[in-house]
Amino acid sequence: MTRHFITGEELADDELVALIERAIELKASPLQSRALAGRSVALVFERPSTRTRISFEVGVGELGGHPVVLGAGELQLSRGESLRDTAIVCSRHVCAIGIRTGPHADVEELACYATVPVINMLTAAHHPCQVLADLLTLREAFGRLEGLRLAYVGDGNNVARSLALIAPRAGVEVTVSSPSGYSLDDPPPGTRLVEDPRAAVAEADVLYTDVWVSMGDESTAAARRAALAPYRVDEALLDRAAPGAIALHCLPAHAGEEISADVLYGPRQRIWDQAENRRHAQKALLELLSSEVA
Ligand code: CP
Ligand code: NVA
Repeated sequence: MTRHFITGEELADDELVALIERAIELKASPLQSRALAGRSVALVFERPSTRTRISFEVGVGELGGHPVVLGAGELQLSRGESLRDTAIVCSRHVCAIGIRTGPHADVEELACYATVPVINMLTAAHHPCQVLADLLTLREAFGRLEGLRLAYVGDGNNVARSLALIAPRAGVEVTVSSPSGYSLDDPPPGTRLVEDPRAAVAEADVLYTDVWVSMGDESTAAARRAALAPYRVDEALLDRAAPGAIALHCLPAHAGEEISADVLYGPRQRIWDQAENRRHAQKALLELLSSEVA
């Protein structure tokens, strides 16, 4: 049975924690693993990417593998070839397939027919690879994960959903604070939903935000900016959190919208470490999943 990484729930809680510890080792010595020597990984990008593209492509190389990066329109998929046939053919050549696309169901369908692991590199519904890097960043910043309190402030989007789904499995309590109309639908059990951002961040160790206009949401941009304006992460909001609280953002950021420039570039953020940690965390994931395929 091929194991995929589509929502993040595919990892048991103890595997998730072990993966973060492994990522710390890989970060300390980036060329120590040859887990992908002589093997290739397909990386399909149907939506733009900076961090995911660079971190996966470089990470596969650091593990001794060959990344096959395929942009929008480069596959016959763009001319109507099915996800099923694409999955079957890719599985004959590569040891894993990463895909970034809009519809989450497309990733599930690809995984249904792939005989190698499929890794979700972002859909409109989930962004699980991001949360691996987020947990690594928290582990570095606080020396532990268990008992941390994370308040996500902003649009109840793919990143919010993956945080709420995955972070509690490593012992991190998640609160999501969004305005009416932009809240997280189908919140996982245990997620705290607190509409008032100032109440939501009280006692939080981590304030986390993301763009107000995700890829695919451009047609509602003006309404989103108006509704989400009170949800900006700035110094005043950070002051309401626990002493020593840090700010995270998956990026790309829009300084002055969801995050103020003084937080984005200031002393209380770990955002740029977080961006680097994509590579280390994903390498640990690739090591784990590729070890399970012949
Ligand atoms: N955080 C993140 O996934 O960034 P990119 O869209 O640049 O890959
Ligand atoms: N929520 C954002 C995340 C970008 C990494 C989006 O989907 O566009």
